[in-house]
Amino acid sequence: MSAIGVFDSGVGGLTVARELISQLPNENIVYFGDTARVPYGIKSPETVIRFSIENILFLLKQDVKLICVACNTASSFALPVIKNHFRVPIVGVISPGVREAVYATQNKRIGVIGTKGTIKSRTYETEIKQLDSQVKVTAVSCPLFVPFVEEGWLKGEVVLSVAKTYLKPLKDAQVDTVILGCTHYPLLKSVIQEVLGKGVILIDSAKQVAFEVKRILSSEDLLNRGKGGKNKFYVSDNPEWFSSLAERFIGKRLINVKKVDLT
Ligand code: DGL
Repeated sequence: MSAIGVFDSGVGGLTVARELISQLPNENIVYFGDTARVPYGIKSPETVIRFSIENILFLLKQDVKLICVACNTASSFALPVIKNHFRVPIVGVISPGVREAVYATQNKRIGVIGTKGTIKSRTYETEIKQLDSQVKVTAVSCPLFVPFVEEGWLKGEVVLSVAKTYLKPLKDAQVDTVILGCTHYPLLKSVIQEVLGKGVILIDSAKQVAFEVKRILSSEDLLNRGKGGKNKFYVSDNPEWFSSLAERFIGKRLINVKKVDLT
């Protein structure tokens, strides 16, 4: 089964898997969520790079033809270092979102929100500037957003008040486009939009990532010719927790999530 391999620190990468399944229904997908070591967003670059390499080695054993790093923190820290060291193409979530944002902005002021690690790495900023050096980037981390989403707090007074505090620098900078630079944040889209105002464009890179995967598979003649892809889900810990949260991210309950030991 030649498949698309997808990994994330946990459950959030399912927002990307969902888009891959919808745009590439004939592809097999092998998803790995590193639930034993989540969260990546507060870990050091060295640790995230090591975890990412281990995740990739696991996916390569599952006969994958392309790997999608469906985690912003891993894409920020690990992708620039490891990208060209494996025998299959590796696609991250940063560049597709950056391209869309640079294309969308009218006033050349882009906001980026993500985990502490993603923001500290300045990867988004670097890639935006590479595409258009005139763009002013305002980047802030929103560490409480991940637990909010995992606890199912997607709206309400508390979330709104925290979002107002986090997003104030973006409002002050008058950004017209904001990259949701974390797998979990698309689930908080309505609160974020409410705080920033209707005029601000929110970029959720999952769609662009799936386009990019499709483009690479097609240009390398790797698209699956069969009908109806199969999906497999692996985690490094607590498959029950993963399954129960999965519905929120992928829109359906996942049964048969398997636990694997990477060591
Ligand atoms: N998947 C991570 C990301 O997109 C968020 C969760 C974590 O911190 O591991 O950055």
